Amino acid sequence: MANNVLWMQLEVLVQTMKTKFHKLRWAVLAAGLLMSVRAARSQDNGKIPSSYMPVDIHESFSTILSRMTAAKPEIMKRHMALLEERYDLSDRPAQGVKMSGGKAVQQGVRVKLASGTTWDQLSKLSPEQIQERDLFPAGFQPLPHPNHPEGGMLFPKLEIDEIKKQEGRDLARFDLDFDFPDHLIPEFPPPLYLTTRVDLGDVSHGKLITLDNYYELFNGILNPKQLEGLRLLLTTFPQQQFNATEDRRSERPSRGVACFDCHANGHTNRATHLAGDARPQEFRHRINTPSLRGVNIQRLFGSQRGLKTVEDFTEFEQRAAYFDGDPVIAQKKGVNILDRGSQVHAMAEFQELLDFPPASKLGVDGKLNPKIWSIEKSARMP
Ligand code: HEC
Repeated sequence: MANNVLWMQLEVLVQTMKTKFHKLRWAVLAAGLLMSVRAARSQDNGKIPSSYMPVDIHESFSTILSRMTAAKPEIMKRHMALLEERYDLSDRPAQGVKMSGGKAVQQGVRVKLASGTTWDQLSKLSPEQIQERDLFPAGFQPLPHPNHPEGGMLFPKLEIDEIKKQEGRDLARFDLDFDFPDHLIPEFPPPLYLTTRVDLGDVSHGKLITLDNYYELFNGILNPKQLEGLRLLLTTFPQQQFNATEDRRSERPSRGVACFDCHANGHTNRATHLAGDARPQEFRHRINTPSLRGVNIQRLFGSQRGLKTVEDFTEFEQRAAYFDGDPVIAQKKGVNILDRGSQVHAMAEFQELLDFPPASKLGVDGKLNPKIWSIEKSARMP
């Protein structure tokens, strides 16, 4: 136990060093320290580091549940204190600037500065001086997952509540809560616009699209292949934290998660997890769900590996990202292999219909129409 505490402290120290000093030599030094600590630790208990997660768990689910539930308040307190220290999280809606469904866009600079400094002062310093005096705002450093050593998919409360109401599924984790306040995440549920039916505007009619209502909402608007793609995007498949084994983070055994549990209505609810591509854990980046609007004109996908097609991403999400890039653990928890021709393609086809909100200030040539814009602008003037 003491060993574990020491280990965690050292991980935190290394993480702090990595973020404080962005130079390679520090990263190398930190990694070296980490490795020597690991080596020392492995001598302690005869264990060596591994890329794999433990598959055979010898702790009962009820013990895991009570151990992690008890640790949750302290973990959340520590993470929320980090957010507060770095960012201004207050609710300050901008006047007259709304998302397409009507939620206010937040205004103002939200990254806090080291106490006693101002943006004006910073703007007069060279990058070297900022580095020497350690004045680089921490809010621009990578944001950790609410519990970075643990990681995993984490959903905002709005999504959890609505899915529970509509489908009776529980997306809550017993060990962690989502961290951003509601006013700082996209509108929920977000509108959905189709490239094929711009005449219809928001086809979600203000609802969160789920397995319960998609057929009623889309039959007659989509072709049968797209309807099937949408059905699969709304269907749950097992995942690292949400599955039927003892190695899960939902109180009850879970059927899994659906693509649109994160990409709500083809957009995003800002659900988060860690990129699966790096090891050890502290090198993995927190990633917040991006919108899928406009993937039909995109040429590269994902922040890490630059996947080339929506089809590749759709296939990879479940086989790799759902299980942190570990096919061994995926086998234990129930990986769902999608058929490329009939399922992946249908899912990709639906995703490629997801349009941006109508841009009412653009003319037919796609450029800002100064007439419309100036009329609106002058209308707002006192
Ligand atoms: C935890 C919530 C979550 C779930 C569930 C999820 N995704 Fe994602 N999705 C993400 C995140 C986070 C990224 C960004 C990944 C990155 O940057 O490397 C992403 C990226 C993508 C992208 C690339 C978007 C871009 O702009 O590059 C596509 C396409 C995609 N997801 C489709 C899917 C499909 C299909 C499924 C279901 C099989 C799915 N997602 C399930 C969170 C999720």
